[in-house]
Amino acid sequence: MDQQLQQLMSPDGNTKYLFFGGKGGVGKTTLATATATWFADRGYKTMIVSTDPTVSLSAMFAQPIGGEERVPIHHVPNLCGLNINPSDAKGVYTKRLNSMMSQMTGTFGNEVISTPCLDEMATFDQFATFLEEPDSEVIVFDTAPTGKTLRELAIPFDWAGFLQKQIQDGRELAKLMNMDGNSFEDLERDKQRYENALNVMRNRSTTVFTMVLLPERLPIEETFSAITGLDRLGIPVQSLAINQCILPEVIEGNRFLEARANLQNRYLGEIENRFDGLIKTRLPLLDHDVSDLSTLRQVGELLYG
Ligand SMILES: Nc1ncnc2c1ncn2[C@@H]1O[C@H](COP(=O)(O)OP(=O)(O)O)[C@@H](O)[C@H]1O
Ligand SMILES: [Mg+2]
Repeated sequence: MDQQLQQLMSPDGNTKYLFFGGKGGVGKTTLATATATWFADRGYKTMIVSTDPTVSLSAMFAQPIGGEERVPIHHVPNLCGLNINPSDAKGVYTKRLNSMMSQMTGTFGNEVISTPCLDEMATFDQFATFLEEPDSEVIVFDTAPTGKTLRELAIPFDWAGFLQKQIQDGRELAKLMNMDGNSFEDLERDKQRYENALNVMRNRSTTVFTMVLLPERLPIEETFSAITGLDRLGIPVQSLAINQCILPEVIEGNRFLEARANLQNRYLGEIENRFDGLIKTRLPLLDHDVSDLSTLRQVGELLYG
């Protein structure tokens, strides 16, 4: 249990945005859903938003959760869920982007449409909308955008700002490219929304970014690179959740477990040194998976008491 983390995450009159990021399979969905359930159980109006295309949120709560509207979670009175599906989001987003960009295709429209991170852009676009309408006290995001996604996302919208400045300066370029004012208003509005979303993520008093990792080589490296990427955008990672730690009391002379635990201890030492200054919370490896409300509540108590 970690009082410090619980304190940091608890709403204090402002909405709290809690992001969980990390490599696939390390326990993001487990920690995000356990955290959301923990806060909802303590009376906070809570929402869990997943941007993962898989159905893990629906599976965890054993009920359909889609991307159209938030649904109340059964047996957790204060909790609502939403699963933004990147391909649905992409459809809506591409249509909008296409109409905005149709007049500028020659310059950069095609590149924007064919960018490999269109899924992430579309998802972030929806996600930005949620940051604008906080009617929950706690909003938990499963699968947060990484530094790389956010950086790629900034590219086309920097362009929009640049072009708009040209227009304000002289309107010569606009005439040359045969654009009307409306497409720029749309672009500017999106640019503003993305900037607002980034600003929410940059604010340490409203946002807590937690990277989930295992005490193993690859998750450590991935965590380091994600933290560096986010840092370049001014988004601080404040907390690390180290999952699946083998507790000494479960070893009981088992040499296989002992070897794994020794390996983990070396990596735990490395995590302490390399991620100095972050709040670190350890979650033990359980003898079962985390796949329903009662196991989620167990994890919540292990994490926050
Ligand atoms: N501490 C733990 N002990 C045992 N099983 C765990 C633990 N944390 C997560 N799991 C299991 O590991 C699997 C992957 O976790 P999940 O939260 O889906 O990862 P991610 O969302 O990062 O891909 C799930 O089956 C989950 O039940
Ligand atoms: Mg997941």
